[in-house]
Amino acid sequence: MKFTRSIFWDSEEECVKLVDQTKLPDTFEILSCRSIEELADAIKRLAVRGAPALEAAGGYGIVLAAHEKASSADELKERIKKAGEFLASTRPTAVNLFCGIERVLRAALEGEDVEEIRKLALSEAEKIASEDVERNRLMGRHGAKLLKDGFTVLTYCNAGRLATVDWGTALGVIRTAVEEGKKIRVVACETRPLNQGSRLTTWELMQDGIDVTLITDSMAGIVMQRGMVDCVIVGADRIVRDAVFNKIGTYTVAVLAKEHEIPFYVAAPKTTFDWGKKAEDVVIEERGRDELIYCNIKCGKTLIAPPDVKVFNPAFDATPLEYVSALITEKGVIYPPYEKNVPEVLGF
Ligand code: MRU
Repeated sequence: MKFTRSIFWDSEEECVKLVDQTKLPDTFEILSCRSIEELADAIKRLAVRGAPALEAAGGYGIVLAAHEKASSADELKERIKKAGEFLASTRPTAVNLFCGIERVLRAALEGEDVEEIRKLALSEAEKIASEDVERNRLMGRHGAKLLKDGFTVLTYCNAGRLATVDWGTALGVIRTAVEEGKKIRVVACETRPLNQGSRLTTWELMQDGIDVTLITDSMAGIVMQRGMVDCVIVGADRIVRDAVFNKIGTYTVAVLAKEHEIPFYVAAPKTTFDWGKKAEDVVIEERGRDELIYCNIKCGKTLIAPPDVKVFNPAFDATPLEYVSALITEKGVIYPPYEKNVPEVLGF
């Protein structure tokens, strides 16, 4: 099932529509979010996920709030501000969510009447969505230069079409290289506990006819040791001065890549950078115990651990920047020293 955008605004129904990522790969379903509560629930359940897709979701969330009934511009402004706070409380790690909310709020608050607030909010949210597609294409072109014909790329989690509005960050680089005529193979780690790699990355790449092999997360070492991987490309949820935050397990892959002298690349747009912060300032989301003690959490729920076992379930980890060979952005590929080169290239 090909789709154009993973998230969009439906003007007729006045609601946010998104590919329900909890249903894949069994079923391709579009979920309609008709209230802020429904959208917040979709974000928390990871029906919509991935940092750039969350940026768009944050923006469209404000549009949704702006379409609620209101008798005056002031009342509506209060309501959208509250909606922004509520949406921002759903997930703490991906900085893009906050960027999307803030950007659309700022634009909408300039409106002088109810209609203008709605118009401004929608036009800003649509800009975010279109810019995401454009910047992923640019990132793809810059990043593809790092991939030689015949390369095998290991990726982790899902940083593809589904995690963005379209095209993808890490998978966008791979897609672009393939589009340029290079033969690229992908090794996808399953990405426990929610399996974004096995459920989403393999599905997406197979849709495009890109050669992909699934491995469990614990197999990343053996494929590197056997020389089966030429480089690693992952996405990011937040990049601070000293670390890259991405899906739990990314750090393990980065350490393995360094040990095996395999380049480890991170592809992310400028909005994922939070350059004023350090790793210690970032909150890592901790998720519920059911994700670890059950398999088939969506239906049936088979126990795979004693029900009362203690669990620790952080959703992200921090990879120190010294493990990162280069950062692929829409402005170009950035190499170390990052302290000097990131502000220079991104203009911070
Ligand atoms: O918990 P998730 O699935 O939202 O985590 C997503 C990731 O960690 C992605 O790798 C990251 O957002 C980059 S997506 C382009």
